[in-house]
Amino acid sequence: MPGGSARLIDLPVVSDPRGDLTFVEGRNHVPFDIARVYYLYNVPVDAERGGHAHKVLQQVVFALSGSFRLTIDDGLEKSEFWLRNPRQGVLIDRLIWREMDAFSQGAVCMVLASHPYDEADYIRDYEVFRAAVQDTTNS
Ligand code: TYD
Repeated sequence: MPGGSARLIDLPVVSDPRGDLTFVEGRNHVPFDIARVYYLYNVPVDAERGGHAHKVLQQVVFALSGSFRLTIDDGLEKSEFWLRNPRQGVLIDRLIWREMDAFSQGAVCMVLASHPYDEADYIRDYEVFRAAVQDTTNS
């Protein structure tokens, strides 16, 4: 199986004079059952988060409020997403290195995840990540 990928996901919105309403359903708007939701807030503007990949986990990352930069790396190429629209998330597949920085004041990052938290699923060493990508490319 090749290494992972990342792509934008646009969620529906129902707008009326009272405001906007966005919703997300597992296996409909995101390609997995949602097993976990977590969010980052009170993030200092100079903080760097992420710095890891996952062996199996898939996630979709949103800026519910404010903005931040998400940099993803499939082991060959890097790309940047500036997240600021609460309707638009980035699907991060397995074996993708991700980093988040440039958080605006008061930014809230929400993540939908395909599995419960499992530290054993993390790859926190970049060289180990590169080797894992190489393994899947060769197999
Ligand atoms: P981590 O995923 O490393 O955060 P980031 O990539 O944003 O820097 O998680 C930070 C800490 O929080 C780590 O000790 C694990 C813990 N954690 C949980 O206990 N449950 C969770 O669902 C998540 C995402 C993290």
